[in-house]
Amino acid sequence: MNVNDSEVVASILAKDGYTAVKSAEEADLVLLNTCSIREKAEYTVLQRINEMNNLKARNKGLKVGVLGCMAERMREELLEKKKVVDLVVGPDAYRTLPELLEKVGTGQKAVNVLLSREETYGEIVPVRLDTNGVTAFVTIMRGCDNMCAFCVVPFTRGRERSRDPHSIVDECRDLVAKGYKEVTLLGQNVDSYKYTSSPVPFSQGEGGNAASPQPLSGGEGLPSSDAFPLRVDFADLLEMVALACPTLRIRYSTSHPKDMTDKVLVVMARYPNICKYIHLPVQSGSSAVLKRMNRGYDRAWYMERMASIRRHMPDCAISTDIIAGFCGETEEDHQETLSLMNEVGYDMAFMFKYSERPKTLAARKYPDDVPEEEKGRRLAEIIEAQKMSSAKRMAGYVGQMHEVLIEGVSKRSAEHLFGRNSQNSIVIVPRYVDGFELKPGMFVHARISSSTAGSLQGEVTGIVEEALAKA
Ligand code: 5AD
Ligand code: SF4
Repeated sequence: MNVNDSEVVASILAKDGYTAVKSAEEADLVLLNTCSIREKAEYTVLQRINEMNNLKARNKGLKVGVLGCMAERMREELLEKKKVVDLVVGPDAYRTLPELLEKVGTGQKAVNVLLSREETYGEIVPVRLDTNGVTAFVTIMRGCDNMCAFCVVPFTRGRERSRDPHSIVDECRDLVAKGYKEVTLLGQNVDSYKYTSSPVPFSQGEGGNAASPQPLSGGEGLPSSDAFPLRVDFADLLEMVALACPTLRIRYSTSHPKDMTDKVLVVMARYPNICKYIHLPVQSGSSAVLKRMNRGYDRAWYMERMASIRRHMPDCAISTDIIAGFCGETEEDHQETLSLMNEVGYDMAFMFKYSERPKTLAARKYPDDVPEEEKGRRLAEIIEAQKMSSAKRMAGYVGQMHEVLIEGVSKRSAEHLFGRNSQNSIVIVPRYVDGFELKPGMFVHARISSSTAGSLQGEVTGIVEEALAKA
């Protein structure tokens, strides 16, 4: 999400005459987009801010700004303690960057960390930075209303709001026109995407056009046959994008187990261009810990959602987030996490030690009482369990035919390219097939020949013609 936010910032600044350069050494303005999710993330940024002193010593005119969640959380501290910082801007205030920069230009410090209930940067077309020209992010909602006890996001990114589906579909169409082959729809909790629009026919709607395909399932209260539903939920939105862009691969992140509906699973199963992959953070396998985490589900509920995914899409890959050593976590709780991992058999997981964040429910209510060393031991066991699970899942793909979208040249060998299958696993394929050079952006059929815990090797058997248009 931060990558995509930076692309929105680049778009706002492009209108103000700025262009992106390759390195901080060449820049007149350096903006650091920051994350507060764990203490370690903030520590990394504070180090980076200190490095800016050296740059400023060499380039007296250089201005330095801090954007994003740390700007929101640490505004005074940054302005008072970090003299090198000229500008502090929170995640909802990027439109004011041109005015703030004007102020900075006169030698003053500038700050705007106001959070908004409406801002979605809906109509701003992001300037794609560092792009491979194949895959892109599209933000569909901002903020979060969930208040998980460990999480700082509701404090730094504010209330949840959903972006107008017209502008989302338009952005996806524009990406197709520019040659992109895959989008990832982004939100902190995509399952609670909800947009209520006025009953304007799509053909007359802002940014719409008369040839727009119509969603099948429809939201509640379709006003007429040529109009968007009045109320669009996440399943409706997925279907709209799938229909409007039949050749585009669609992914999304992040789902929330308490809100993930069967309607979403039905839409995923119906459209071949929606990837068979769900990132469904569990956080813990213990119902007691989940309750303290304020996650809104218990282990049995999570396992039922998992079963539903498998019922709708037996070939769907599932990944997760896990926190080791949350407040009050006992050895038995930890063992329950390991047993849940074993039961589910995740394809992939992001795994973290619990890091107390100021202002959160957990920081106010529960002591951070699992010793650091114990957190480390539990995390190591979780990582080990995941390695085995990933290796097993990946080995299960060997012998199968997969459709792979090529993204770029393999880091290990210029003779190989890497891409992803629908399940989001990395697939390495030869760059040349019978003298024909494969290129990023191509869809190929590959027979999976071998696997590791982190990637698959494939033999290309053909190029997919009109890849996903079979929808
Ligand atoms: N400590 C450790 N991990 C955290 N996450 C969020 N907040 C914390 C925290 N305070 C993890 C969760 C979330 C992912 C994005 O980051 O697992 O799903
Ligand atoms: Fe944080 Fe929970 Fe919201 Fe995710 S759903 S951003 S973990 S509060």
